[in-house]
Amino acid sequence: MAYETITVDVDNHVALITLNRPDALNALNDALLGELAKALKGAQENDKVRCIVITGSEKAFAAGADIAMMREKSFVDVFMGDLFTPETDQILRVRKPIIAAVSGYALGGGCELAMMCDFIICSESAKFGQPEINLGVVAGIGGTQRLTRLVGKSKAMDMNLTGRFMDAEEAERSGLVSRVVPVKKLMEEAMAAAGKIAEKSMISATVVKECVNRAYEVPLSEGLLFERRMFHSLFNTEDQKEGMSAFLEKREAQFRDK
Ligand code: HXC
Repeated sequence: MAYETITVDVDNHVALITLNRPDALNALNDALLGELAKALKGAQENDKVRCIVITGSEKAFAAGADIAMMREKSFVDVFMGDLFTPETDQILRVRKPIIAAVSGYALGGGCELAMMCDFIICSESAKFGQPEINLGVVAGIGGTQRLTRLVGKSKAMDMNLTGRFMDAEEAERSGLVSRVVPVKKLMEEAMAAAGKIAEKSMISATVVKECVNRAYEVPLSEGLLFERRMFHSLFNTEDQKEGMSAFLEKREAQFRDK
């Protein structure tokens, strides 16, 4: 499928989605978010895809929602139009693992998009921020909620109230990102991580995603019960027999998602 604001490449069971509005530092407009939602739905439905990587350019993952597109909108426009909701809901519906590979600016909606992915690998040039307060608004797709859960109240307040940017080192120290690598190594590292995930049983990978996400939704006792029951259920799969047999037979497991 031909896209105008993103590119999509599927190789070795990994779908690489690259945001591609270089003139606006990948600012998120209706077109880009619509295409991203479509590409993610396609990746979810494509049996060849086992993991997804979303990235931007070396200068910007995404510098936020498109300010030019938003400036003249009214409350009624964005409330009744439910600005960005259908597209971001689609991202959350993807059951396959999604890695955000971030270089440069991940600001506002860009930081929020990265946080909607399952984990973030960033380069040393990454800068995260929720600067919406400078525009007379606030974050709208998770910048006060997901960021607080990821880095805690103090840093989330600091970022959202001052609009300051967080560099890669602070982002890793705070738990916002899982790894920091040199700029030139970012895609190699992200694609290698995605490739590793693609080798696993998709059943286990899907269960991991559901379990970790549940940790944000339910009390600990319920989350632990859900995890334990999912662990028990996996004994009803061929992949459990294969994984354990492969270990004992000292060979690589060949998972078949069954
Ligand atoms: C529209 C944007 C943009 C944005 C950058 N550009 N960010 N256009 N929306 N969010 C455009 C600039 O207008 C400029 O276009 C070109 O990209 C290059 O940007 P510069 O500012 O010239 O680059 P630089 O000096 O390097 O500064 C980079 C920057 C700065 C620090 C990232 O661009 C910036 O502060 N951007 C805005 C960041 C922001 O406020 N994000 C939050 C948006 S609100 P021209 O045509 O002049 O070359 C949001 C809400 C989410 O995200 C909630 C959703 C519900």
